[in-house]
Amino acid sequence: MKILVTGSSGNVGRHVVNELSRLGEEVVAAGTDVEKLGKMFDGGVSVAQFDFMRPETYSNALRDIDRVFLMRPPHLGKPEDIYPFIDSLKEHSIRLVSFLSLMGIEKNPIPPHHRIEKRIEASGIPFVHIRPGFFMQNITGLHLKEIRERDTIFIPAGESRTSLIDGSDVGLAAAAVLHEPERHMNSAYTITGPEAMDYYQAAKVLSDLTGRKITYGKPGILKYRNYCINERGLERKFANVTAALYLMTRMGTAEAVTDDFFRLTGRQPKTFADFVMENLKTFER
Ligand SMILES: NC(=O)c1ccc[n+]([C@@H]2O[C@H](COP(=O)([O-])OP(=O)(O)OC[C@H]3O[C@@H](n4cnc5c(N)ncnc54)[C@H](OP(=O)(O)O)[C@@H]3O)[C@@H](O)[C@H]2O)c1
Repeated sequence: MKILVTGSSGNVGRHVVNELSRLGEEVVAAGTDVEKLGKMFDGGVSVAQFDFMRPETYSNALRDIDRVFLMRPPHLGKPEDIYPFIDSLKEHSIRLVSFLSLMGIEKNPIPPHHRIEKRIEASGIPFVHIRPGFFMQNITGLHLKEIRERDTIFIPAGESRTSLIDGSDVGLAAAAVLHEPERHMNSAYTITGPEAMDYYQAAKVLSDLTGRKITYGKPGILKYRNYCINERGLERKFANVTAALYLMTRMGTAEAVTDDFFRLTGRQPKTFADFVMENLKTFER
């Protein structure tokens, strides 16, 4: 039987696909653009057309599948967008669904991941919730523009600390549980990087490794939200969710460091300095 990986072109999904293949599993990489997936994995895995918003794509994607890596695309803000797919899993003999959730979600009902976790648990399908901290990829993604163009980390996290984790490490952790479903079923793991740092420290790492003076802008929450909408042209809903997540961060919700990654993989997670070194070219103007 095979493992279906949703969001397989994403920050975490692509690493789930690669690691499961390395472990000898048969993988189906799913997404809305199969041509892109074919090029990305260079014919090494099967690909399937899959769209959460199009239930008619589910049954083909789920053929011969007994484990699922489930992620919520960031722009699908309502948990209800994911429910039809979870419900359809009940009709298949699924041995494990590994859901890409969020650190601290067990105590925070506001982000959609909270209710998605509950829905999975209520379905009776064996599950593992993977609850990562903030991804380092946010620095080379959402926040790259200000670093490149203005030498500033523009994140409204105040003086709080964050245990940033590399998305590739989150992928390794998810692959580990999918490879040994019976060992991990009906549990949750909080996956963090090896250290908690504030964004002044992150700016220093960036400055030291790029050779440019990069500072931490430390905008207020509202200023950041308005900037995202008015100057970056980001969707209002997305800007609101991001601002809310950084508001929580200010209360210390993103600073815990756990050893769950080591327990699952036997490896140490990447440091922020490792990540910056690997992506040095990306930060160039
Ligand atoms: N960023 C963080 O710091 C962080 C931290 C903790 C948890 N998380 C959670 O991790 C998840 C992934 O976040 P991310 O920012 O890293 O995103 P990402 O992996 O870059 O997400 C985009 C993925 O979603 C897929 N997708 C988009 N629309 C789809 C649809 N209608 N049906 C099926 N697939 C669709 C895309 O595939 P196609 O290209 O094939 O459409 C792509 O692979 C989110 O739920 C987020 O809340 C993020």
